[in-house]
Amino acid sequence: MARHLITSAIPYINGVKHLGNLVGSQLPADLFARYMRARGHDVLFLCATDEHGTPAELAAAKAGQPVADYCAEMHRVQADLAAGFRLSFDHFGRSSSEENRRLTQHLAVKLFEAGLIEERTERQVYSVADGRFLPDRYIEGTCPNCGYEKARGDQCENCTKQLDPTDLIDPRSAISGATELEVRETKHLYLLQSTLRDRLAAWIDEQADWPVLTTSIAKKWLFDGDGLQDRGITRDLDWGIPAQFEGAPWSGMEGKVFYVWFDAPIEYIACAAEWAAAQGLADADWERWWRTGRDAGDVRYTQFMGKDNVPFHTLSFPATLIGSGEDWKLVDYIKSFNYLNYDGGQFSTSQGRGVFMDDALEILPADYWRWWLLSRAPESQDSEFTWEAFQTDVNKDLADVLGNFVSRVTKFCRSKFGEAVPAGGAWGERERQLIADLSTGLARYEAAMDAIAIRRAAQELRALWVMGNEYLQEAAPWAAYKEDPDRAAAVIRLALNLIRVYAVLSQPFIPDAAAAMRRALGTEDANWPGDMEAALGALAPGHAFAVPDVLFRKITEEERDTWQARFAGGRG
Ligand code: MF3
Ligand code: ZN
Repeated sequence: MARHLITSAIPYINGVKHLGNLVGSQLPADLFARYMRARGHDVLFLCATDEHGTPAELAAAKAGQPVADYCAEMHRVQADLAAGFRLSFDHFGRSSSEENRRLTQHLAVKLFEAGLIEERTERQVYSVADGRFLPDRYIEGTCPNCGYEKARGDQCENCTKQLDPTDLIDPRSAISGATELEVRETKHLYLLQSTLRDRLAAWIDEQADWPVLTTSIAKKWLFDGDGLQDRGITRDLDWGIPAQFEGAPWSGMEGKVFYVWFDAPIEYIACAAEWAAAQGLADADWERWWRTGRDAGDVRYTQFMGKDNVPFHTLSFPATLIGSGEDWKLVDYIKSFNYLNYDGGQFSTSQGRGVFMDDALEILPADYWRWWLLSRAPESQDSEFTWEAFQTDVNKDLADVLGNFVSRVTKFCRSKFGEAVPAGGAWGERERQLIADLSTGLARYEAAMDAIAIRRAAQELRALWVMGNEYLQEAAPWAAYKEDPDRAAAVIRLALNLIRVYAVLSQPFIPDAAAAMRRALGTEDANWPGDMEAALGALAPGHAFAVPDVLFRKITEEERDTWQARFAGGRG
């Protein structure tokens, strides 16, 4: 038994996530966690909400709520949706937790003691009316390059020119529209990441098994242009983890907080501490997942994220951990994803374009989405959600292949032998062939899952379902029954057992359908098949079952058109 620490990138608190976000980290992480548990490994699967930063403050202001209340409410909303999608987190934490405050401040002190944090004074735009410093992207004005009137202080989205807030003509606060802006001096903490370049480069070179998508992004940031930059890890904001605190080795940082990208990944650790506290466990119980001095050296740590998150996970977060000089566990494998597009364009949170997690569950049960999203995961390139593809795949893979098998086998058995596994007959050549094919197919499925090759794994699973259908078609128990009922009984005994095996193997992808299959078969036996022949004998003659309700219904043309039209306009 191995120990697997698995984390998903933690979603921003401001708003419900769309399906592109879901398939880019939480859902594939869940697939892997479920698979590893099913194989009997010890798994700690963590996720949380990413709650700090200006976007959270602004979303709260827009909702007319104090930011802490807004975050608490949105955390519940996201937790409920995660449960709806059957995301099997051991803990769904919050980056605003007390545990994260403690750890973030602790790591900052360690970095300072290691000589890796320096104070720097810089000049920044202050809005007198708003009573706050404005981050570059919250200053708006006319672009000096193209004349676009709503250019942001960091970049003009019309002509894409990188800007400095002071370049803008007629600058104003994007928060309030106030024009009384001043440039003031402000002091910040900088993490001297550049001094860690060689250590980070050496660590990345050790990761021979990482996908090229991951290492190429890391190397680009390490060496391109000026290479790894020192970065400011504090901001002039109210909402966040205070940068001035008891025991801080610096002074004068009142009214400032740590930058959201400094504290967010630390929540991966803090979340384990939150988990332990929620379970009534001791610190040592979470530290054994995170501190190599406490046995975490034996842990295999896998992170899931979208490609835009890769630099923070290959460089910034490891810089924090390595730089601390403490024995923190570093990631072993990073699984990163390209983007899922929506019907000829991009999913967009700001424009409400695409299908969001709450919409999706309102339309169809989680398994339909899980199967489609995972089997089309944007691994080696971007992929696209279209209603046509969704309808076709669901109807074919889930309804025609898997659902139909379960329904035919159980109904036929009920009508001819009653609702119990039939005795009589013996398996012959065709069964031996099927068992051999299932065994090799299973090995291919396992290899794909072990490698987190998600689309390939979905194909291999589907291939196993197809084998059952083809067998049933050839063995034709409905025809055999007339001449030789024992032969039909032998076929159906195998097929009923195969439903149980399908339930076990399919559970990481479609957990609800898997549970329904096991319930119908009246078995709790979720053991992963070691020997296929033995696994197909788990349900003995006489074992009672019931015909389940339709596992997967088909999506009609009319529904498809209705949904396509409904989501064409964006969210209200
Ligand atoms: N909230 C970020 C996003 O959605 C991800 C943060 S991941 C962590 O892109 F490393 F910071 F935790
Ligand atoms: Zn411009």
